[in-house]
Amino acid sequence: MENAKLSFNGREYEFPVIVGTEEEIGIDMQSLRAKTKAIAFDPGYGNTGACESAITYIDGDAGILRYRGYPIEQIAALATFPEVAYLLINGQLPVLEQLREFEREIRYHTLIHEDMKKALDAYPSTAHPMAILAAMVISLASYYHEDDSPETINLNIIRLLAKLPTIAAFSYKHSVGQPYVYPRNDLSYTQNFLNMMFCLPTMDYVVPDVLGRALNLLLILHADHEQNCSTSTVRMVGSSRAGLFASIGAGICALWGPLHGGANQEVIEMLEMIRDDGGNYRKYVDMAKDKNSDFRLMGFGHRVYRNFDPRAQILKKSADEVLQALGVNDPLLDIAKNLEEIALRDEYFIERKLYPNVDFYSGIIYRAMGIPTNMFTVMFAIGRLPGWIAQWKEMRADKHTRIARPRQIYTGERERQFVPIFQR
Ligand code: CMC
Repeated sequence: MENAKLSFNGREYEFPVIVGTEEEIGIDMQSLRAKTKAIAFDPGYGNTGACESAITYIDGDAGILRYRGYPIEQIAALATFPEVAYLLINGQLPVLEQLREFEREIRYHTLIHEDMKKALDAYPSTAHPMAILAAMVISLASYYHEDDSPETINLNIIRLLAKLPTIAAFSYKHSVGQPYVYPRNDLSYTQNFLNMMFCLPTMDYVVPDVLGRALNLLLILHADHEQNCSTSTVRMVGSSRAGLFASIGAGICALWGPLHGGANQEVIEMLEMIRDDGGNYRKYVDMAKDKNSDFRLMGFGHRVYRNFDPRAQILKKSADEVLQALGVNDPLLDIAKNLEEIALRDEYFIERKLYPNVDFYSGIIYRAMGIPTNMFTVMFAIGRLPGWIAQWKEMRADKHTRIARPRQIYTGERERQFVPIFQR
């Protein structure tokens, strides 16, 4: 493909073009500043490719999402979450023995150090579980040695995959004042997590199949989403050569925000608000359109998807099935469907190509499963973990990786003289 040409300040400059395997085109601007002294100005990085990646492909116009080339619809229907984690992290689907070995290794590391439990105990029971999750993941670096050898990195990857559900479930038990339930190595990844969440010493608890299946689906749908805010954070922190635990901890913090993974909690709170306000959808659609109001329809819109979010389509169908299987009749599901219908017919949403995203229906399923609202973003983090790990590993293995260090256009004061405080 021909070089891109830039005409600027009376001179012409040429920049090479790179093309991805799906014909995605990028103009390689790495020499822009050296050649022109100007920088590319792109707040929010909507037009900026920060890396080459072979993990996840999204075509936002066509509603396509693929992990390592496999369509999300096929993976969601046929895979297990550990299998998807293996695929994302290692690049290929495992054969049966490889998957068994991977799962065996994860099971071997599910416990957290008893001292970590004491640290967890010290948090107020009102603490948001995302605060605990981020802090605990970063503190894994104080329990486990980190270096750049592939053996250590692989061991720490397994530790993270194994311990994140334990930390998450313990943070929930702590918040409700119940005894911690230790991991059980005879259960699958999803069953073990649900058992740690819902089992009590006073009862025999068997994880209902429908819950295990629903969680498997939810985790798979969240497992990776190329260079989103939290993944870019993981890569950015990792680009300074910070370790795996610190990088993933930073990603968890980025995920927490209501415009990113925190949206699933916000969606439920918004639907409850609409319910408590008499179900007046129109009022909230109008508020979301009003430029004088900060209110947005949570669970709507996406930087990349401009037609539909394939994950939301799968979840909408699944929400009906799971609620029916669990015998749950949740008025919030009807409110969500009505809201979607009104918004999708509204000129404002049509013009801006705003559709329900993955978070719009996930919260309703989590709620039906008995997961409390403030745990929703934690669930997102458990799902996204393999993606973060895969992206971190890819970034570290890429010999072209440089420390992430954007530039700026300075708009502050020009140079001025400092006046000592008593003379001002
Ligand atoms: N409700 C009302 N208006 C909206 C919404 C919304 N949910 N989302 C975007 N808009 C409007 C926005 O006001 C702007 O209008 P205008 O052009 O008149 O100024 C236009 O649409 C473009 O919005 P933007 O903020 O420039 O879009 P973005 O690509 O920067 O932001 C987003 C994407 C997902 C942050 C945004 O759509 C949003 O805030 N959605 C609600 C929060 C949410 O559901 N987040 C979860 C995202 S999916 C899960 C994940 O990957 O984290």
